[in-house]
Amino acid sequence: MDFNLSEEHLAVREAARDFAQNQLFPQVIERDNAQKFDTELLRQMGELGFMGMMTSPEYGGSGMDTLSYVIAMEEISKVDASAGVIMSVNNSLVCWGLEQFGNEDQKQKYLTQLAAGKIIGAFCLSEPEAGSDATSQHTTAVDMGDYYLLNGTKNWITSGNTSSVCLVIAQTHPEKGHKGINVFIVEKGWEGFSVGKKEDKMGIRASDTHTLMFSDVKVPKENRIGEDGFGFKFAMGTLNGGRIGIAAQALGIAAGAFELSLKYSKERKTFGKPISEHQAIQFKLSEMVTKIQAARLLVYQAARMKDEHKDYIQAAAMSKLYASEVAMWVTTEAVQIHGGYGYVKEYHVERMMRDAKITQIYEGTSEIQKLVIARELLK
Ligand code: CAA
Ligand code: FAD
Repeated sequence: MDFNLSEEHLAVREAARDFAQNQLFPQVIERDNAQKFDTELLRQMGELGFMGMMTSPEYGGSGMDTLSYVIAMEEISKVDASAGVIMSVNNSLVCWGLEQFGNEDQKQKYLTQLAAGKIIGAFCLSEPEAGSDATSQHTTAVDMGDYYLLNGTKNWITSGNTSSVCLVIAQTHPEKGHKGINVFIVEKGWEGFSVGKKEDKMGIRASDTHTLMFSDVKVPKENRIGEDGFGFKFAMGTLNGGRIGIAAQALGIAAGAFELSLKYSKERKTFGKPISEHQAIQFKLSEMVTKIQAARLLVYQAARMKDEHKDYIQAAAMSKLYASEVAMWVTTEAVQIHGGYGYVKEYHVERMMRDAKITQIYEGTSEIQKLVIARELLK
């Protein structure tokens, strides 16, 4: 596979790097402390085309390929992984899912707003009793004729409060198992839809994560995506692409921590010389850069396979599994290279280490990625 980046890819990298360094970097520690993202920054991300990168311009998006998207995700997550996850959910789960599987009315009404970043979307699969075991949905959507009655609780929802529109997965025909599940576009503000507690998290603290509750919410029939029973296929289909986005987020966190470590190792002196001249530190840097490049190749490969309409289920799972493990390892080593300074907020790597952990958990834990890879191998 040829990864010579085109002029367009290089321009995307430049634009994302510029935005990340000049707009995201200055207040990143403050946002982490305050546990709050900046709505002005979100508006700018929409204006720059980062919120609907793969959506066609016809629906308000940037019309770019998946490779461009992962390049931008890496640059943004290098500096601010909270911005990375908000961007990832909106791009790969919400906008991509709607463009692929929504009907024309749904795209005109919702996608045009979401892809332009005028509103933010959320993806609601997980429940208190259904995380990895996503087929065992307890949220119900009872068919009442011209509407569905939605009841249940979703938890861990990224942008749970900030979002205006949620894609909610729910069980309609329990006797059919995962083939009875549906997915609905649900608007905030509809009667019976409430936002619950905000999670106080280890990392990606500027991204809001909430429980969402549905109590007899009337969802019009036209807000169901796809045929009756398509919901689980929708969830798995969008998550395959989503996992490439999270892999790119993990890659960005690792690459950001490495860059800081390399710089610091040349500045910090011990025993009369920069620590970069100690072989133990050099070996850490060598291993870091090698693992990061291996992760990048897996991420690019998965993105290319998606762009070429190849079966990318296994490639996506491999990229997320590997990049997230690399992010955790590299950020831990980055703190070590910084010594005591690595343990305080000012030097950024402690935040990166906290942010890295979630990439091994959401959009399918590392164990679930291994399960997906093994099932693809054995089928
Ligand atoms: N792609 C396409 N289809 C898939 C698939 C995939 N990656 N994984 C499973 N499927 C299909 C299967 O082919 C099967 O379909 P058929 O019955 O039509 O053949 C159906 O889904 C059920 O699959 P299994 O029989 O394998 O079901 P299972 O219960 O044994 O395993 C699972 C399913 C793979 C573990 C799945 O539940 C899973 O992926 N769990 C993880 C959930 C997850 O990733 N949640 C993320 C929430 S969103 C999020 O986290 C966002 C964020 O943080 C930012
Ligand atoms: P569990 O499924 O209970 O797993 C617990 C442990 O058991 C894990 O180590 C897991 O790997 C292991 N395990 C489970 N089953 C197996 C098995 N079969 N084989 C081997 N090991 C297994 N969800 C959404 O729907 N939308 C979101 O926007 C969203 N955002 C999130 C943001 C954050 C910050 C967090 C923390 C979570 C988010 N999630 C979201 C939920 C996330 O996808 C789930 O937490 C994740 O899928 C794991 O589910 P769980 O937490 O219930 O863990």
